[in-house]
Amino acid sequence: MRLTIVIAAFAALAATSANAATVLITGSNRGIGLEFARQYAALGWDVIATSRTPEDDDDLQALASKYSNLRVESLDVSDHAQIDSLAAKLSGTSIDVLLNNAGILGGEPDVQTIGSIDFDSMAQVYKTNAIGPMKMAEAFLPHVEASDQKKITVITSGTASLTNVRPSPFYKALYLYRMSKTAINMGYRALSLEVAPKGVSVGILAPGVVETRLLQQAGYGGMGMTTEQSVTDVIRNIENLNVEHSGQYILHNGEIVPW
Ligand SMILES: NC(=O)c1ccc[n+]([C@@H]2O[C@H](COP(=O)([O-])OP(=O)(O)OC[C@H]3O[C@@H](n4cnc5c(N)ncnc54)[C@H](OP(=O)(O)O)[C@@H]3O)[C@@H](O)[C@H]2O)c1
Repeated sequence: MRLTIVIAAFAALAATSANAATVLITGSNRGIGLEFARQYAALGWDVIATSRTPEDDDDLQALASKYSNLRVESLDVSDHAQIDSLAAKLSGTSIDVLLNNAGILGGEPDVQTIGSIDFDSMAQVYKTNAIGPMKMAEAFLPHVEASDQKKITVITSGTASLTNVRPSPFYKALYLYRMSKTAINMGYRALSLEVAPKGVSVGILAPGVVETRLLQQAGYGGMGMTTEQSVTDVIRNIENLNVEHSGQYILHNGEIVPW
């Protein structure tokens, strides 16, 4: 216990030194992503907080005014040209933690049931939730490889677990969302094996049930924990990531989620 405290204190100290670790976060203008930006900035990390519309994001701009170690960049993760362009702009910047947080539900639960599936929306959900994080990993691998910590992570969902799909009073099909998140789980699991020889570890991180706009849209509003609580837990799981335990599907509380 005491050793854990000493290590945590040392890590916090290291992050505030001249060699501060760097995190790049997608979808950091609200919800869980905004809280990641806030907590990493408060820990003294260099934060590259990205969003689709930085000029309109008052909360994110307020964070940037408060923390000189937080910079805002524009990025739509479904636009590969934008991803390549940001990767080129950040060429030479090492990124310790690539944090793919951006995600969409794909519409209310009633448009994600059989008979009402919107297949055009499904393509957009895949572009955002599955293809985007894969493209990000490819584009930013050199930046991550150049860093000390070398971690690529994605915020997935417990709803993507095949084992956990079973009847319950709270069950909703959510085809678009579940399918896209299961796809990125597989992508990042495979990625974990491919990048292990480079010393890069991969985290497939479920934040739990969290009060955000997405949760409200899913019809579960009022049932979640705060973004602060979830993000504190997930940051601890990111700290604990290493190549030996890479590619695991980890719930915010540290439990391993069955695939
Ligand atoms: N809340 C939960 O209970 C829960 C549970 C499991 C997993 N998650 C996951 O947690 C992550 C964050 O979600 P949240 O709950 O914080 O929801 P949220 O409040 O709806 O935030 C979603 C974020 O993703 C951004 N985004 C959407 N499409 C994007 C794109 N193409 N490019 C860049 N950014 C984009 C949004 O930006 P705009 O403002 O531009 O739309 C927003 O910043 C998601 O991956 C979600 O699936 C959430």
